[in-house]
Amino acid sequence: MSEKTAVVTGGSSGIGEAAARALAADGWHVIVAARRLENLQRIAEEIGGTAIRLDVTDDDSVAEFAAQVPRCDLLVNNAGGAKGLDPIAEADVADWQWMYDTNVMGTMRVTKALLPRLTEAHGHVVNISSIAGLRSYRGGAGYNAAKHGVHSLSHVMRMEFVDAGVRVTEINPGRVQTDFSLVRFKGDAERANAVYDGHQNLVADDIAETIRWVAGLPSHVNIDQVVVTPQEQVIW
Ligand SMILES: NC(=O)c1ccc[n+]([C@@H]2O[C@H](COP(=O)([O-])OP(=O)(O)OC[C@H]3O[C@@H](n4cnc5c(N)ncnc54)[C@H](OP(=O)(O)O)[C@@H]3O)[C@@H](O)[C@H]2O)c1
Repeated sequence: MSEKTAVVTGGSSGIGEAAARALAADGWHVIVAARRLENLQRIAEEIGGTAIRLDVTDDDSVAEFAAQVPRCDLLVNNAGGAKGLDPIAEADVADWQWMYDTNVMGTMRVTKALLPRLTEAHGHVVNISSIAGLRSYRGGAGYNAAKHGVHSLSHVMRMEFVDAGVRVTEINPGRVQTDFSLVRFKGDAERANAVYDGHQNLVADDIAETIRWVAGLPSHVNIDQVVVTPQEQVIW
């Protein structure tokens, strides 16, 4: 594969889908990866990319996936999300495990598996964390802990990958109107819509534009971290 290749995990919807479209428009060959293969295939067809099924929580799936990626100049670790908004006193262990396994372990698994390809390419890792990885809020502890984990992972990756010429960027979005809240509230559309209704929200394209920008900079420029919020959302 001679084309500059980007892997976008969680490329089946929301920020990942928008990032795949923006990168393809910038000339990248994009491999979109997630569990919903039909979505991936539709998107890949539209952008001239490649769709590969991937479950970031499954070691075998990650190994099978990595074996199908001959080149990786850019890895966008975007697969992730939240489950629940319960106080710690009512913490649901399965939800916490899902959040840690998807956001933190998933980022580790995919990065580790693709590191040889990233090293060959002197590539770039972009981790989609969250403002929840910088500040905490009531009911958010499981998601806060997971995204703080992604924040720490990003720091350590930068230190460990520097000698291989691999750049590492962390992006911390604020409120973006996607299926994120529908997933968090397990399909309760009324509760999910209430997160966005009456508020100013980002759209997935706003974060895709940030990803496109950091990925397009010359290789001697590393953007460590970008915090992106709707103008009205001031982080505390
Ligand atoms: N929306 C926001 O307000 C916001 C703010 C800050 C950060 N973020 C972060 O942005 C990222 C993208 O979220 P989004 O807002 O675009 O929501 P989304 O539309 O729900 O996207 C989540 C993506 O993650 C994928 N995913 C989930 N579990 C996976 C697994 N086990 N293996 C592979 N892929 C998996 C989903 O694909 P499949 O279901 O097809 O597997 C989907 O493509 C997440 O990391 C989220 O935490 C979102």
